[in-house]
Amino acid sequence: MYNFKNKVVLITGAAQGIGKAISLKFASFGAKLALNDIFTQEENLKKVISEIGEKSEARYFLADVSKLEEVKKMIQDIKKEFGRLDVLVNNAGIIRDRTLAKMTKEEWQKVIDVDLTGIFNCSKTALPLLVPNQGKIINISSVVGQRGNFGQTNYAAAKAGVIGFTKALSKEVGRFGVRVNAIAPGFIETKMAEGVPDKMKTIIKQLTSLGRFGKPEEVANAVIFLASDEASFITGAILNLDGGLAI
Ligand code: NAI
Repeated sequence: MYNFKNKVVLITGAAQGIGKAISLKFASFGAKLALNDIFTQEENLKKVISEIGEKSEARYFLADVSKLEEVKKMIQDIKKEFGRLDVLVNNAGIIRDRTLAKMTKEEWQKVIDVDLTGIFNCSKTALPLLVPNQGKIINISSVVGQRGNFGQTNYAAAKAGVIGFTKALSKEVGRFGVRVNAIAPGFIETKMAEGVPDKMKTIIKQLTSLGRFGKPEEVANAVIFLASDEASFITGAILNLDGGLAI
């Protein structure tokens, strides 16, 4: 259906969960893959590459997206390895949940640094490579950035920031044919969501029109659509992917 032959796609936080599913999806449509994650995830990145196998060419690039110097080196290395970049998927993210009354400055800052500044670092550094190819940026926000959530002031602020960033950047780079969109997932079954207490999971399921949680592959399906020519007139959009949770 989609054709990403000879296109190079960078996915941050690609070692597990949603990032891994996005990577496998792009691989199945022939994209060349630059897979990013932090240093401690090297083994998991190798596993993703061996799962991709012969389907496509994939390399991994270790970098903490919250550190601009590491991101600059990663983009230089991707340029050396592949010579181009067509799609950036800003997926890396973390949580440090606690009510504001108990939240430390470090817990606040860490989430802002990875979930919001990480997107600034990667988008700014990758943009010169994306512009000549009329590239695409897809940011992973969250329904929490639209609705808020108990115990997640840091995460909600970062993910709401991602929505504003997406809309503003789409206005800046539209004239180059570069499209910038975001996805706001609801509850998706990954390691990040495992820690949610069972009582809370039951409540979230009840509030979700489809009555179930989402799968990483369902997020990947939307990412590849937004990156494809099928979405050629879509930019600055925030796509809710939440089974009806945010309505
Ligand atoms: P996950 O925890 O399974 O995967 C996140 C990946 O990001 C990990 O491989 C981790 O090592 C990597 N990562 C963390 N910090 C990094 C850094 N500084 N630099 C580079 N990589 C880093 O989480 P999941 O669920 O796959 O989340 C992916 C994205 O989707 C995140 O942005 C998350 O906020 C978002 N999201 C997840 C939802 C869910 O219910 N699972 C719901 C809404 C949004």
